[in-house]
Amino acid sequence: MSIIELEGVVKEYQSGSETIEALKGVDFYANRGEMVTVIGPSGSGKSTMLNMTGLLDTPTEGIVRLEGVDVSALSEDELTEKRRSGIGFVFQDFHLLPMLTAVENVELPSMWDTSVDRHGRAIDLLKRVGLEDRLDHLPSELSGGQQQRVAIARALINEPKILLADEPTGNLDQDTARTILAELTRLKTEEDIAIVVVSHDELLMEYADRTVELIDGVIT
Ligand SMILES: Nc1ncnc2c1ncn2[C@@H]1O[C@H](COP(=O)(O)OP(=O)(O)O)[C@@H](O)[C@H]1O
Ligand SMILES: [Mg+2]
Repeated sequence: MSIIELEGVVKEYQSGSETIEALKGVDFYANRGEMVTVIGPSGSGKSTMLNMTGLLDTPTEGIVRLEGVDVSALSEDELTEKRRSGIGFVFQDFHLLPMLTAVENVELPSMWDTSVDRHGRAIDLLKRVGLEDRLDHLPSELSGGQQQRVAIARALINEPKILLADEPTGNLDQDTARTILAELTRLKTEEDIAIVVVSHDELLMEYADRTVELIDGVIT
């Protein structure tokens, strides 16, 4: 069974009197232990599709299944819980809080959870992405690649089953992008998670187990 699945997903946005059909019936799935990349030009619907996959937005039509369960049957509280505990997000511009250190940024998504050693796990994750000597640095004291590795560690703090990344290498040079992609492929196996990366950058295909192409809201 796929960990996450989209079936016939349509997404329309209303913009004044105009209706924009960003997704036109998308079928997609990802399994644990694999990295799937979604490649497509700007405006093809990649971020929209990732937001559906991450339960951040609901489709106009079609079904999203998380571990086989149609998520439209879940309450808002259940959705929040699934999103919080099951899914990690990484964005192009890192989204780190500037006044918090690397380790504090990583701990942040687990703040309410007093049952685990958050600080210990945050340090462990930062070690695993090669930042053991940068724990107490602020984002402004880190390079772009280092900031993105902090963001990846933060996305893993709640031990998600799915890691979603929207153009994670978009602000990085080619060498740094390769380091980050190699990091993701390693974590995919170590953590047995499904990784979905969307990007317009074809470099990603080299690191993927599977690549799908999204053009004008349609998987080709
Ligand atoms: N909140 C929104 N309101 C209206 N139109 C949107 C919104 N978000 C995205 N769109 C439109 O949907 C289409 C797909 O956008 P997006 O998913 O961001 O594509 P990509 O990530 O591939 O660049 C584009 O035409 C975009 O302008
Ligand atoms: Mg986008």
